Amino acid sequence: MDISHIEHLGIAVKSIEEQLPYYEGVLGLKCYNIEVVEDQKVKTAFFKVGQTKIELLEPTSPDSTIAKFIEKKGEGIHHIAFSVQDGVANALAEMESKGVQLIDKAPRGGAEGLSIAFLHPKSTGSVLTEL
Ligand code: CO
Repeated sequence: MDISHIEHLGIAVKSIEEQLPYYEGVLGLKCYNIEVVEDQKVKTAFFKVGQTKIELLEPTSPDSTIAKFIEKKGEGIHHIAFSVQDGVANALAEMESKGVQLIDKAPRGGAEGLSIAFLHPKSTGSVLTEL
């Protein structure tokens, strides 16, 4: 698998609006996109930090996985996403052949029109990992 860089860090927040003063006002980053991803029941806000992005994830429903994450662990870093150069489907096949437990057996649509898939934290040192 050819990982080129960290595509983004996903951070679970209760409210994107409440975090904007920190990310924009304090850190001086610019939110360039806010998007609802219906099937994941999240609202996302993106900031560029060099080649990497920060993705704030706000639950849009109490049964969203992000809502459950915040309930259990509180707000904070939720996942790391690697950019893979040879395609998500190829990377998934390789991960599976290496015995990595997959959450997504096939790529699906994520924010920003990207093809994504998640690996299970059981196989990734407890860090939810997105390709
Ligand atoms: Co993500």
